[in-house]
Amino acid sequence: MALPSHGQKMVKRMVNLTMDSPSRSSLPESAVLIRQFRPHDLSDVMDLDREVHGSYDPQLFVSFYELHPRTLLVAEQQGRVVGFILGFKSHPLQGRIFWLAVQPAYQGQGLGRRLLTALLTIFRRLGAPTATLEVRISNSQALALYTSMGFEPVTVIPSYYGDGEAALIMQKRL
Ligand SMILES: CC(C)(COP(=O)(O)OP(=O)(O)OC[C@H]1O[C@@H](n2cnc3c(N)ncnc32)[C@H](O)[C@@H]1OP(=O)(O)O)[C@@H](O)C(=O)NCCC(=O)NCCS
Repeated sequence: MALPSHGQKMVKRMVNLTMDSPSRSSLPESAVLIRQFRPHDLSDVMDLDREVHGSYDPQLFVSFYELHPRTLLVAEQQGRVVGFILGFKSHPLQGRIFWLAVQPAYQGQGLGRRLLTALLTIFRRLGAPTATLEVRISNSQALALYTSMGFEPVTVIPSYYGDGEAALIMQKRL
C-alpha cells in the first residue's frame, strides 16, 4: 500500500524541521574504522545500545553475528565501538536494515551515514535490488538521514512499537 500524500507531506515536514538545526562537523574519515562486528565488541555494543534506548537482548546480536556476520558492522574509534548497524538479506534478496545506532557523543558527525552507506554497498554486492527499514514516526534525526540517502516512505504501520507508536516503512532501490 502506498503512503497517502498527506503521509508524504508529514514526512517532509518532520525532515524540514531538522534542517533548521545548527551545522554539524564531520569526523575525518580516517579517525573511525567501519568494520565487521567481532565477538569481543559485544559489551561495547550492548552499552551503546542501552545508551540510545535500544535495550535489545544480547542474544539478538549473537544471532546476527552467527547468521549474518557480513551485515553486522561497527564503527570503531581508538579501540572502542562508537556506532553499529544490523542488517540482513531477507528472502527474496531484499536488504533489511534492522537497527542503527551511534553513541550520543559522536552523533551528527557523519557516522550514521557512513555505517548505512557501508551496509548498502554490501547489500548491492549480495545482489539485493532494494533495501527497506522501519523507523518511529517521531524519530526526526533518523528520518532526515534516511530521506537524504534516498529512502522513500512506503507505508505507515500504526501501533507497530510496544509503546503504541507507529512505524514508517521506507525503501530504497539499490
Ligand atoms: C539516527 C542516528 C543513527 C544518526 O546517526 P548520526 O551519526 O548522528 O548521523 P549523521 O551524522 O551521519 O547524519 C546524517 C544525516 O542525518 C541527519 N541528522 C543527524 N543528526 C541530526 C540532527 N541532530 N539534527 C538534524 N538532522 C540530523 C541529517 O540529515 C544528516 O545529514 P547532514 O549532516 O548532511 O545534514 C543517531 O542519531 C542515533 O543513533 N540515534 C539513536 C538510535 C536511533 O534512533 N536509530 C535509528 C533507528 S531507525
